[in-house]
Parts: sequence; structure tokens; C-alpha cells
Amino acid sequence: MSQITVRQKNFNFSPQIQRYWYGNSAFKTHFFNSITLLFPDGEQFMLRTIKRQIKQIENTQLKQEAAAFVGQEAQHAVQHEKFWQILYQQGYTFDIYLRCLRFILFNVCEKRLSIKFKLAMIAGVEHFTNVIAELTLKEELFADAEPIMKELFEWHSAEEIEHKTVAYDVFQDVTQSYLIRILGIIMAYTFVLGFVNLGLLIMLHHDKKLLNFKVWQEMVQFLFSEEKIFFKVFSHSIKYLKVNFHPSERDNLFLIERVIG
Ligand SMILES: [Fe+2]
Ligand SMILES: [Fe+2]
Repeated sequence: MSQITVRQKNFNFSPQIQRYWYGNSAFKTHFFNSITLLFPDGEQFMLRTIKRQIKQIENTQLKQEAAAFVGQEAQHAVQHEKFWQILYQQGYTFDIYLRCLRFILFNVCEKRLSIKFKLAMIAGVEHFTNVIAELTLKEELFADAEPIMKELFEWHSAEEIEHKTVAYDVFQDVTQSYLIRILGIIMAYTFVLGFVNLGLLIMLHHDKKLLNFKVWQEMVQFLFSEEKIFFKVFSHSIKYLKVNFHPSERDNLFLIERVIG
């Protein structure tokens, strides 16, 4: 039996939400706003690929877990996209970003990649989300954020940890090639970091803060000197390179108790 639960959520984001909802920091707010721009289409690509693969899976438990993965990712996509309304109300536009993102995801990745490479890329993206999810819960990363944004990211993080083995196991069900797995994570990190940075620059450009000293000081603090996110992400990410890596080896399931019990 699958232990993964699909929960129906319904976030209502108030138009009164602060523009810089993460501790009044433009950098941190737009870093996570940018992630919010990436999730809905990224998750659509992942869930569609996994959904199409379900009928090929023979292991009953993995089949059920894959179905639950699809259900959870669909919820994440819908709830994050709701926040776009607030961003539109705040005056942000990101049509060009979405056109580029959708072209890469649906015209390039979905149409041109073989199923092995698609699943390798998805397993790599899921490793990245698991790294960020663990940091979110372990370090209480959203302690200074607006409560509803904290709730959104913590719920999403808890479910990412809950289903962390699924995409990897579906990939391994198709091929156990180490080379394809590693190429998949390289594609995944290039894609995710590329679009997170693009979204961040678009948001900061809109606020005319691209050359603002305080913003880049916040970046250095967040990534390198205070929260040290860069080093934490790097040291967890490279565990994926181990030949016998499996997502279940990381002891982080206990973190989700406080969020989804
Ligand atoms: Fe998700
Ligand atoms: Fe996920």
C-alpha cells in the first residue's frame, strides 16, 4: 500500500500581502517568487510524464505511489499558480518568461527527449526539490515570511519529502544506467537554476533593483555568509553522484511530522 497521501488544499492569498513578504527582503522574496513561477508548468511536465508511465509499471506499490505523486504535484501546481494573481496585482508581468519556460518544457523536453532521459531529468529535479524542502523544514527557512507563504512552502516541502523516492524509483524501473541518471541531474540543475535566476532577474528588474547594493548584500548573506544556502545545497546535491544512491537513505522523513503529521 502507498503511504503517500494526496491532500486537498485551498490557499487564499490576500491582496494585502506585503510586496516583500519574506522578511522585507527583495532578494529572498523574489528568489521564492521565481520558484513559484517555475512550479506550475514544471510540475505539469513531471506529472504528465509519470502519469503516462504508470501503465508500464508492474510493481503494484510503485504504481500506487506514482499515482499519489501525480495527485500531489497537481495540487502543488494549482496552489502555487494561485499566487500569480497576487504578483499580477502587484504589477509584475512574466509572459516572456512563461513562453521560454513552456517552449523548453513542452516543445523540447516533452517532445524530443526519450522516456529514459525525461525520467532521469525528473528524478534530478526531484532531488533538487528534496534538498530545498529539507532546508525549508530543518532550518525553518520561512520563519520571517508572511504566515500564508510559510504555510504554502512548508506544506509543499513536506509532500516533496513524503514522495521523494517515487520519481527515482520510476526512473530505475525503466533503466538503471548511471550515465543517464547523471546526465539527467545535470539537465535538471541547469534547467532549474537557469529559470530560477531568470525569474529573479525579471522581478528585480521590474522593481528597478538590479543595481541595488542592499539586494546583492542580501544575496551574499543568504547564499554564502549567513544562511549559507549555497554550501548546504551543494553538499546535499552531490550525494546524488554516489553509484548506489537512493533517496530513502537520507534521514529527513521525521521533519514532515510537524507539517502534515
Ligand atoms: Fe511539488
Ligand atoms: Fe515532487
